[in-house]
Amino acid sequence: MNKFVKIIAATAVLASATFAADYTIKFSHVVSANTPKGKAADYFAKRVKELTEGRVEVKVFPSSQLYTDKAVMKALKIGNVQMAAPSFSKFTSLVPQLQIFDLPFLFKDVNHVHAAMDGEVGKAMKDLVTKKGFVALSYWDNGFKHLSSNKKALIEPKDAAGQKFRIMSSKVIEAQFLAVKANPQVLPFSEVYSALQQGVVDAAENPLSNFYTKKFYEVQTDLTLSSHGYLGYLVVMSKKFWKKLPADLKPKIMQAMDEATAMNRKLAAELEASYLAKIKAYADKTGKLKIHTLSDAQKEAWRKVTAVVYPDFYKVIGEDLIKKAQE
Ligand code: LMR
Repeated sequence: MNKFVKIIAATAVLASATFAADYTIKFSHVVSANTPKGKAADYFAKRVKELTEGRVEVKVFPSSQLYTDKAVMKALKIGNVQMAAPSFSKFTSLVPQLQIFDLPFLFKDVNHVHAAMDGEVGKAMKDLVTKKGFVALSYWDNGFKHLSSNKKALIEPKDAAGQKFRIMSSKVIEAQFLAVKANPQVLPFSEVYSALQQGVVDAAENPLSNFYTKKFYEVQTDLTLSSHGYLGYLVVMSKKFWKKLPADLKPKIMQAMDEATAMNRKLAAELEASYLAKIKAYADKTGKLKIHTLSDAQKEAWRKVTAVVYPDFYKVIGEDLIKKAQE
């Protein structure tokens, strides 16, 4: 190595040492980077870097690259990752009350969801999660879930009878499908495509962003725009890691989180229509997917048959909280 090359190499080492972050946050999630959650996570990483002037680095790992949602809870506890944004159902064994968000037909629209998240219900849930060793940072949106199948179009509740549904690990969702005599099976998100393809399950429920970005339309013949339930996220950080952060950095992280939350909500609303347009374009082009909308009477039939789930969870979730969320 000549002298000039040596100087360049030494400068590079010095520069990387100078600019290496003081704290690194590994942020693991299971969906594609081009979803409302994926984009918000990337934006959060960018804003943290800017606001902390590089002292904190957030490395985002999408598409279950590091962990499934179940495993990530453990990984957070032992410090293998510092952040995650699991859907509410994934907290079932830890904070079963969060299943409130899984109740079928609980929310009229996304404004209703936000009122619950930003109000008393959301605060009560955050407090419960905090007691379990996490810092509950924020609620993020995905969207309303829709039913799909490759066995039989799901128009009336009786169409679900006997169909094997992939579900998230939520007792409320399990009860919802048992109410229509279906056969629910818990599977991690990373296995949904192959399970549908190989016939391990026939059917699923997903928001359009997950249905589109994971190409579930390739392995389903019918999509019913049922909007029967909501899928959102609680963004959490390891409490141990949070405690280690110096006081001057914490408000900056919170600011980045507030900005990412605003961006996530805007994006989730905006992208919904474009995902549907893309799914429709695929359906028109290939003729391999039928998209169904439900009449008011059909929707009411689903609501009525799945409403039996509510009283079963009054105790687990709290009847008062359910009533508050309904308001
Ligand atoms: C699922 O497992 O279907 C979802 O929780 C995935 C996600 O994070 O949206």
